[in-house]
Amino acid sequence: MTKKEFIHRVPKAELHLHIEGTFEPELMFAIAHRNNIQLEYASVDELKQAYQFANLQEFLDIYYAGAGVLLYEQDFYDLTRAYFDRIHAQGVVHAEIFFDPQTHTDRGVAFETVLKGITRAMDDVREQYGLSSGLILSILRHLSEESALRTLDEALPFKQYFIGVGLDSSELGHPPVKFKRVFERARAEGLKTLAHAGEEGPPAYVWEAIDLLGVDRLDHGNRSMEDDRLVAELIRRKIALTLCPLSNLKLQVVSDLRQHPLKRMMERGMLVTVNSDDPAYFGGYLNENYEAIAEALELSIDEIGQLAVNSFEASFLSAAEKASWTGKIEAMLQ
Ligand code: ADE
Ligand code: ZN
Repeated sequence: MTKKEFIHRVPKAELHLHIEGTFEPELMFAIAHRNNIQLEYASVDELKQAYQFANLQEFLDIYYAGAGVLLYEQDFYDLTRAYFDRIHAQGVVHAEIFFDPQTHTDRGVAFETVLKGITRAMDDVREQYGLSSGLILSILRHLSEESALRTLDEALPFKQYFIGVGLDSSELGHPPVKFKRVFERARAEGLKTLAHAGEEGPPAYVWEAIDLLGVDRLDHGNRSMEDDRLVAELIRRKIALTLCPLSNLKLQVVSDLRQHPLKRMMERGMLVTVNSDDPAYFGGYLNENYEAIAEALELSIDEIGQLAVNSFEASFLSAAEKASWTGKIEAMLQ
């Protein structure tokens, strides 16, 4: 079996995926049209031309503008369903998905509208494909603590529909400590916690995410490698990192995938996973991320299999579900 065939066939979980980042230009134009909204770009091609980013903020400006055409429950359903159809064809069997409620509620879209559209698609694909998924409410860190607390208040009546609370958006200048009380509340409610840290921000932000927010899993974390004591602590506490190779390349977190820290992290004994982040903007879904990083770092089939195992180990699935999937992968590696 070639590496490419193995990547396609092996069961995988995706753990770092923003549903708003799966908004393909064609669907964006179709939804804008039916909602009578004029996009800033004249055509799909013109929009795609704009997907050149010098840093995270340049991407976020375009990503939030795109999400602005989502108004109705059916829009959120169509967006989510399109993502699931794609990953089902890629051998993904489980996905833990971020959504950014403030991006929508700040435009007057009801929290419930967003949630109902996304969860209806989650229910449908569980039934039709046996594809399991969980939802993670992600707080926008460029907004205030007060806005985050209000969002959590609004979300708690729907707590059974999500598994955790995350932290995303513009990292520099918005350290995790800003949301210490928000995360205390989320943890007290029995929710898992996650944070983007060390994508552009320094190792100090990763320390805050693990010590002050008490995260169960860390998103990106690339810059942890600058601090040996931090690396040792992430290993000791078994905190998994959700790495996103094509995202890192597109947002110039790395200048070349051959410089990506994934393999060095594996060699150090860190629990790392491969994910797509915002696939409609970064040029690939999950398998394209596996293929690109496997090629750049010359990963073996065993190493690729280990990454697939890690994707379940680092998930919020039950111990029995983890064992069932990792057993299947190990059988493929025999
Ligand atoms: N929101 C969507 N994608 C993101 C990323 N890579 N970093 C921070 N916030 C995001
Ligand atoms: Zn992300």
